[in-house]
Amino acid sequence: MRLSLRFVLPLFLALGAFAYAAVPLVDKLTLQWFMRDLDIRASLIANTVQEPLQDLIQTGNRTRMLQFFNRITQDERLFAMGFCPSAPGQPVITPTLPTQIRCTELAPFSAGPGHLLRSANGPLLVSVRPLEAAGVPVGNLVVVHDMSFIARRSAETRKYLFLFFVGLGATVALITVVIAQLSWRGWVQGLRALLRGEGLVRPTEGRDLSEMPELRPIASDLRALIRDLEADHRSRDEDQLAWTPDTLRAILRTDLSGHEVLVVSNREPYIHVRRGDIIALWRPASGLVTAMEPIMRACSGTWIAHGGGSADREVVDEHAHVAVPPEQPAYQLRRVWLTAEQEAGYYYGFANEGLWPLCHIAHVRPIFRTSDWEQYVTVNRTFAQAVVEEAKSPDPIVLVQDYHFALLPRMIQEALPAATIVSFWHIPWPNPEAFAICPWREELLDGLLGSSILGFHTQFHCNNFVDTVDRLLEARVDREMFTVSYRGKLTAVKRYPISIEWPPSPALLSKPVERCRLDVRQRHGLPAEQAIGVGVDRLDYTKGIEERLRAVERLLEMEPQWVGKFSFIQIAAPTRNRIEQYQEYETRVRAMATRINERFAGAPHPPIVLLVEHHQPLDIYEYYRAAEVCMVTSLHDGMNLVAKEFVSARDDERGVLILSQFTGAARELPEAIIVNPYDTDQCAAALHMALSMPATGQRARSRLMRGLIQEFNVYRWAGRMLIDAAGMRRRGRLLERAATPERQSRRAAGRETSRAK
Ligand code: G6P
Repeated sequence: MRLSLRFVLPLFLALGAFAYAAVPLVDKLTLQWFMRDLDIRASLIANTVQEPLQDLIQTGNRTRMLQFFNRITQDERLFAMGFCPSAPGQPVITPTLPTQIRCTELAPFSAGPGHLLRSANGPLLVSVRPLEAAGVPVGNLVVVHDMSFIARRSAETRKYLFLFFVGLGATVALITVVIAQLSWRGWVQGLRALLRGEGLVRPTEGRDLSEMPELRPIASDLRALIRDLEADHRSRDEDQLAWTPDTLRAILRTDLSGHEVLVVSNREPYIHVRRGDIIALWRPASGLVTAMEPIMRACSGTWIAHGGGSADREVVDEHAHVAVPPEQPAYQLRRVWLTAEQEAGYYYGFANEGLWPLCHIAHVRPIFRTSDWEQYVTVNRTFAQAVVEEAKSPDPIVLVQDYHFALLPRMIQEALPAATIVSFWHIPWPNPEAFAICPWREELLDGLLGSSILGFHTQFHCNNFVDTVDRLLEARVDREMFTVSYRGKLTAVKRYPISIEWPPSPALLSKPVERCRLDVRQRHGLPAEQAIGVGVDRLDYTKGIEERLRAVERLLEMEPQWVGKFSFIQIAAPTRNRIEQYQEYETRVRAMATRINERFAGAPHPPIVLLVEHHQPLDIYEYYRAAEVCMVTSLHDGMNLVAKEFVSARDDERGVLILSQFTGAARELPEAIIVNPYDTDQCAAALHMALSMPATGQRARSRLMRGLIQEFNVYRWAGRMLIDAAGMRRRGRLLERAATPERQSRRAAGRETSRAK
């Protein structure tokens, strides 16, 4: 009903305005036509009476002349007549002649097609015609027509015109309403499909949208609008020469109008641990934390994470909050407490014995236990609750991190439907066959598809995810737009290659390279000229540490000149050590290092230095700056930030990176020496090549890689996600606006129906 009024009211107003302008115009035209007709009639009368009048004028019989005039004026339209002689003499006029007409002042009435005179008797038309007798002017004949009948006719015309417009309006309105009602549903569906990025060729309810001409103009407008938005975002991304914390803050301020940012991850950025009487602060070995921490420092907001440190509870307030970084607080860390059973089932069990090997395909079988799954669900719910508690607004931007929280996006979406949820999967996504062995595969996919945006490091992992959804769920997958539509929610699947802070924190580069070289060599009893390789990893079976040590051994076999002259320092941070596979892996790595060192025991210096302990970022950067070569030989890795850190640490443009082809980083850093870690000979040859590379070659490669990391730093990674999130929010609002009238009209229709019942 309301919808109809919206169409009809403006239509009636437009027609009313039109009628208002048209009626006086029609009046004026009719009047002109009638005046011309009556004037012609006056000429006719003058011609007709010419002859009899000539006689009467010549005889001077004024009484008969008056009788003659009175007879003529009995015609209902002829109001008065008169004769004004040119020679001095009395005029002959009927008594009805208006007093304004005087024979001595006929000039104003002689011009034009008659003269309109407003008198007490109504409008009159005065026509003056010269009279002649035997070719000599004898005077003027004055003919006065009554025009009141014109006013009557004009009123009638107006009435008919008005009725005509009302009729026309009603007919047009009726047709409009019928067409509008018929096409509204189609319009809205078309709009929604369009905004979902489905294009116009997807059939809806048996109709192909391209067959709906009524949609074409609005569709092209909307397409243009969306193209503009996207182009705007793209150009903002591309135009931005230097991505800095300020750039991120600006995006939050402008594109996201200051909305709050919440980050959720399992691993916390700062861990408080008790060491006797003191509380020590640890920075965990986690690529995720390395990347997210500078973002949170830039954006403030709240980071929600598992409080797993032995002294974590001692430093928080009553809301489990602690401000970090401790030396210069920039954001809140909200710690979530888990019981030992929850941690065992959710973290060690489902996440790290199940999903981690499932996604990495590194020849360790995943283990799926129902009890672990149940804890995984419970802990995801606990974190969802924490997000709701921390959210100060109904529509925060929630950045959900990694495989510990596959169910969280859907849970947050249900609790905070207006939130924008951007999930990032930091590890690889396997092919559909590999993923399908998980007994809870549908639940995991459903959970992730609660996200507005789901990010991976590489396009390959995006493709794998979309293939998996296509294979396992009844979802609509758009491969052109890379979106998945499932349970009424649209998720954009996008590639965001993660990176590191650039420029690196000055503190990390403060010790000169020469000093780092000397200190590291001294620390390990190595001579100043010893060549050094470095590896920095968690002691994880996906990192290819065994393969790396094997390559060092093979180098010494193939190129014996390096025996005693080259040492490889492996920093291996202990990790997930309650898991059997990790314990076994550590044992194997330790044994391999010992065996290789024993094999070359005759050399003055051991080929392998294995440091199984936690190192702080400052110490790690010292090793990076001291080494000739850095080896990253992951068997499968989402990105691997060690590769980027090594390059960024070398502001002297020296040092060679050997990089596994199975890391996301290999796609961005092709100037590294790319290897297959399973190919031991190839890796050994790469080591030899790296150790023999001239300074010019090192510099050329280093410059290219440093340029790329500078341009694609972690601020750009986060910035692109935030820009996309902002774009999505805008699209959502557009969609909401398009859907509101439809909902209202449906509601109104519902009311009508219930009234009718
Ligand atoms: C990988 C994961 C992160 C995790 C990190 C360290 O990088 O993607 O989510 O934090 O490993 O593992 P941990 O189990 O110690 O947190």
